[in-house]
Amino acid sequence: MIERYAFGNVLETGAVVCKPGCAEGAVPFLETEEAGRRFSFHMGSGDRVYGLGENVRGINKRGWIYESRCIDDPYLLESRRYLYGAHNFLLVDGSVRFGVFFDCPGYLAFDIGYTRASLLTVTAEEPDLDVYIITGDSLTDIVRQFRTLVGRSYIPPLWAFGFGQSRWGYRSADDIREVVRRHRELGLPLDSVYLDIDYMERYKDFTVNAETFPDFAAFNREMKDQGIHLVPIIDAAVKVEKGYPVYEEGLEKGYFCKKADGTPFVGGVWPGNSVFPDVLNADARRWFGQQYKRLLDQGVEGFWNDMNEPSVFYAADRLEQVRGQLEELKDRPADGGLYHELASMPQKLSNPLEDYKTFYHNIDGVPVRHDRVHNLYGCYMTRAAGEAFERLLPDRRILLFSRSSAIGMHRWGGIWQGDNHAWWSHLLLNIKMMPSLNMCGFLYTGADLGGFGADTTEDLLLRWLAFGIFTPLMRNHSCEGTRLQEAYRFENPNGFRHIMGLRYRLLPYLYSEYMKAALDGGMYFRPLAFDYPDDPHAPQVEDQLLLGESIMVAPVYRQNADGRYVYLPEPMKQVRFRPDGSVEEQVLSQGHHYVAIPIDEVVLFLRPGRLLPLAAGGCNVDQVDFQNLTCIAFPANGRAVYEYYHDDGITKDYENPANRRTLRVSEDQ
Ligand code: GLC
Repeated sequence: MIERYAFGNVLETGAVVCKPGCAEGAVPFLETEEAGRRFSFHMGSGDRVYGLGENVRGINKRGWIYESRCIDDPYLLESRRYLYGAHNFLLVDGSVRFGVFFDCPGYLAFDIGYTRASLLTVTAEEPDLDVYIITGDSLTDIVRQFRTLVGRSYIPPLWAFGFGQSRWGYRSADDIREVVRRHRELGLPLDSVYLDIDYMERYKDFTVNAETFPDFAAFNREMKDQGIHLVPIIDAAVKVEKGYPVYEEGLEKGYFCKKADGTPFVGGVWPGNSVFPDVLNADARRWFGQQYKRLLDQGVEGFWNDMNEPSVFYAADRLEQVRGQLEELKDRPADGGLYHELASMPQKLSNPLEDYKTFYHNIDGVPVRHDRVHNLYGCYMTRAAGEAFERLLPDRRILLFSRSSAIGMHRWGGIWQGDNHAWWSHLLLNIKMMPSLNMCGFLYTGADLGGFGADTTEDLLLRWLAFGIFTPLMRNHSCEGTRLQEAYRFENPNGFRHIMGLRYRLLPYLYSEYMKAALDGGMYFRPLAFDYPDDPHAPQVEDQLLLGESIMVAPVYRQNADGRYVYLPEPMKQVRFRPDGSVEEQVLSQGHHYVAIPIDEVVLFLRPGRLLPLAAGGCNVDQVDFQNLTCIAFPANGRAVYEYYHDDGITKDYENPANRRTLRVSEDQ
C-alpha cells in the first residue's frame, strides 16, 4: 500500500509517474515536527535502514548522517555525507517494515543514528515536500511498489552490456584505433570506446575537433564495422564563445540560467567561462535535447552526461572577489596564517553553496532560485536528452547515463558512480552501492573499473573486473595523469581475457535478469537479507550480493588475498570458472566456507532449484549466440527452472510474450 502526505507548497519534481490522492491524518511510523520540516523514527536496536542510492558507507545505512545535495566531489570518502546523486528513498526493516520516499527538489539531511544512536531524523531545508509511505509483505514487495510509483527503469541497448574502454586522455581517432587494435589482437572483448572531453573542439558541447577526428561520421562507420560503438561525453555547461551556435542560440532564446539582474550566470568549467542550460524550463530542455542530434546524425548511439550537479569550478563573480582578496594579501608577510588562507582559496571557489543561490531557473514562467531545485539539475539534463531521443528515434534505444541524478532520472538513463579512486575500499564501496541504487530504480549502473583517480595495480584491476563483469555498466575508466590501465598494459593478458570474456558467456543471464528487474520492478542486485529474511546472519553480510533469481556473487576486495570467507544462507552450488575454459561445480552446505579464488578465476554460487544459462561467448555482443545456451543447474527435488528473457536488444518491444520462456532441467531427463 502506498500513501501520500503533502506538506507545504510542493514543487513538482517529476519523480512520480502516478500520484495517489493525499492521505488524511498523521504520517504513519514517523513523528512529524515543524509542519513537515522534520520527521523522526525511533529505531529498535535490531532495525536496519536501507536505501539512499548513491552515497557513502554500507548497505545498512545506520550510524551516519547523509545528505541529498548533489556535488562534484572526487574523493568519495567515508567522512562525506553526499555524493553526486539525491536518492531520497529509505527502507526500514525490523520491529516494523516500511519504505519512505521524500519527494522534493532541495536539500535533505538523513540522520540515521548519528546524533542519537536510536533516532532516525530526516530534515528538509524547505518544508515543501510529498512524503510517501509504502508498506508490503516483504522488502522486495515494498521496492516493487515504489518502483511502480516512480516508473520503469531505463533500458539501454543490448550492446551497452558489453565491455567499454574509456580514459580521459584519448586525444584522436588514432588513439582510439590503437585501443581497439590492442584489444582485438589480444582477444580481449570490447564493445565500446568512450570519448572524454578531448574529442571536442575546445571543450564545446556537440562539436568534434576536426583536426584530431577528421570526418567523425566516417570514423563512427569504421568503428561499427569492427563492432565498436563510440560513446561521447556531454558536459552540462556551454562555452561562452562568440560564433558558437549552441551558445549564441541559447543566449538569444534566453535558455541559460540567469542571475537576479537577468544576465546569464557565468561559471568556469572545462571550457573556461560557460553558461548553464536551464533544463528545468521545458522549452530550454527541448532545445538542449535537440542538440544531441548533431552527434546522432553522425552515427553516435550513446552518451554520458557529465558535470551536471552542476559542477562550477568558479563562478565568474566570485573569481573577481577572490582576485581582489589576493590583491589585498599581496603585501602581507608570509606566515602560517597566510599559508592557510591561500591554501583554502581553491575550495572556496569550487561549488560553494552560496553560488547556487545566485542564479535562477524559469519554471513555467516563475523564477525559481537554483538552490531550491539544485538536486534536479543532472536529472533534467539527462531527461532533456532522453526526451529528445524519444522524439527523434522513438523505436530505438540509445545508451545514456549521467553522473548526477535524482530519483525520476532512472527512467531516462543510468548513472556511473563518479570519480572513485584506485583503492580497494572503493571496490567494496562499488559492491555496496549496487543494491542501494537498484532499490531507487537505478539499474544501469557501475563504477569506473580499476578506479578513476590514483594509480591502479594489475591485481586491483583484475579483482575489480571480476566484480565488474556482473554490473550492467562495465567500463574501465581513468583520469588523465594516472597510470595507464587498459587491460593490455599488464603482464597477465590471459587473466584479463578470461575474466572479461566470461562477461560474454554470462550475458544471456545478465541481460535476462536486467530486463526482468526493469520490467517487473525488481532488483538486479539484492542484499542477502532481502531474500533470506529469517536468517539471522544474512543482514550482517554486506560483501556478497544476490544477482537475479539464480546466483550469488562474493567478490574478493582485499589485496594479496587468495580467496575469502563466504556465507551461504542455504546449500548452494559453487561454480568455478577457470582460465582454461573449464567449469568446476561443487555443492557446498549452508554456513561459512573459505573459498580459494585465484586472481584469474571467477567463482559464483548457484541457488537450489535454479539454472544458470551460459553462451559460448564472443569478442563483442554481436558475436554472442543468445539462443544456443548451455545450462548449469542445481536441481532441488529433481528440478531446476529459470525464466529466460531475451529480445532484439535494439527496439522497444519489451512486453512481447515471445520474449519470455521457461528453461527447465529435470534430473530424470
Ligand atoms: C569528470 C568526470 C570524469 C571525466 C572528467 C573529464 O571528472 O567525472 O569521468 O573523465 O570529468 O571529462
